[in-house]
Amino acid sequence: MNSTSQVNASEAARAAATASSRDAFVRIENVVKKFGDSTAVNNVSLNIAKNELFALLGSSGCGKSTLLRMLAGLETATSGKIYVDGEDLASLPPYRRPVNMMFQSYALFPHMSVETNVAFGLKQEGVPKNEIKERVADALNLVQMSRYAKRKPHQLSGGQQQRVALARSLVKRPKLLLLDEPMSALDKKIRQKTQLELVNIIEKVDVTCVMVTHDQEEAMTMANRLAVMSEGRIVQIGSPSEVYEFPNSRFSAEFIGSTNLFEGKVVEDEPDHIFVESEDLETRMYVSHGVTGPLGMPVGISVRPERVRVTREKPGTANNWARGVVTDVAYMGSYSLYHVRLPGGKVVVSNLSSSHLMNEGAPAWNDDVYVSWAPSSGVVLTA
Ligand SMILES: Nc1ncnc2c1ncn2[C@@H]1O[C@H](COP(=O)(O)OP(=O)(O)OP(=O)(O)O)[C@@H](O)[C@H]1O
Ligand SMILES: [Mg+2]
Repeated sequence: MNSTSQVNASEAARAAATASSRDAFVRIENVVKKFGDSTAVNNVSLNIAKNELFALLGSSGCGKSTLLRMLAGLETATSGKIYVDGEDLASLPPYRRPVNMMFQSYALFPHMSVETNVAFGLKQEGVPKNEIKERVADALNLVQMSRYAKRKPHQLSGGQQQRVALARSLVKRPKLLLLDEPMSALDKKIRQKTQLELVNIIEKVDVTCVMVTHDQEEAMTMANRLAVMSEGRIVQIGSPSEVYEFPNSRFSAEFIGSTNLFEGKVVEDEPDHIFVESEDLETRMYVSHGVTGPLGMPVGISVRPERVRVTREKPGTANNWARGVVTDVAYMGSYSLYHVRLPGGKVVVSNLSSSHLMNEGAPAWNDDVYVSWAPSSGVVLTA
């Protein structure tokens, strides 16, 4: 319809080009997995490029682990195909699959030292002793655990155990590394540090990585691209910023980050903008990008909290604002979250930089205020 739709389309094309089916390293085609009557994975198609770090994201039970287990060859698809490096996974015997999976619990052997844990898989494969020694040393070096080689797992912190588990996966030199909730055992602070470490390590080795998480921040920080899943289906695929800035549905908008969602109807459709009327707002919404559809079409408009201004002064524009009352101000450190209740009862959330609030005259609890946003800040959602 207009400039941003074009940006959207070209970004989508670029995202698709990074993993077109021609050069995709992992190709998932129409995969369905049923357990009895229930469908855990419902017709998923997805391409993942070589050396990509791809995240599967979604709420509990949406089918993430099941899809990952199929990539690992631990489950067989009810229908559909999975190709890794051009080969049909189902036709490869397990030992020829170039895949390694790191499980939700790291499953380190408690009675073995760190180095014996890491060496275990290679020994089973009958790799010569000298080579095992070298590869284990390299892997431990990579995850910066060389000086803990002789320790037992219970003598390590959670983050250290996680790195040993990663070394144990990488030492086998898989082409495809699968991580199921790799950080779930770690507390928040260590988690954030470990996320960056993990990305650095993965970038150093020649590996393609698919990671499952239900933590959207984790997926946003770590992944090159991500897929948002719901009830066994993929809702949206894109880079973290594409999915955040251009959610394709109410589900994506609310799942990735938080958002203000206004329900309304298209009342005017011009080449470079649309107008939407919502019962929640006294002014019309002027949105500078979106979709073309018949007048009267119901749409959702998503406006991210950091795009919403809260002022005492009435905005100088005819659209995109509403009167309200501050019902809550939560100081979060570098920013503060404002809750502003509109006359109709809807609460609009705004994320304001705390330095801005140092100004005298910053709105406070119980103040009469205006919330407003720019025409480019609204994203039109039809799904
Ligand atoms: N072996 C099984 N037999 C029957 N149902 C199963 C089996 N494994 C998974 N399911 C069901 O399939 C659905 C998807 O499960 P899955 O483990 O893939 O979810 P998930 O997205 O990984 O969730 P979580 O975030 O909680 O780990 C769930 O409804 C689950 O109960
Ligand atoms: Mg799971």
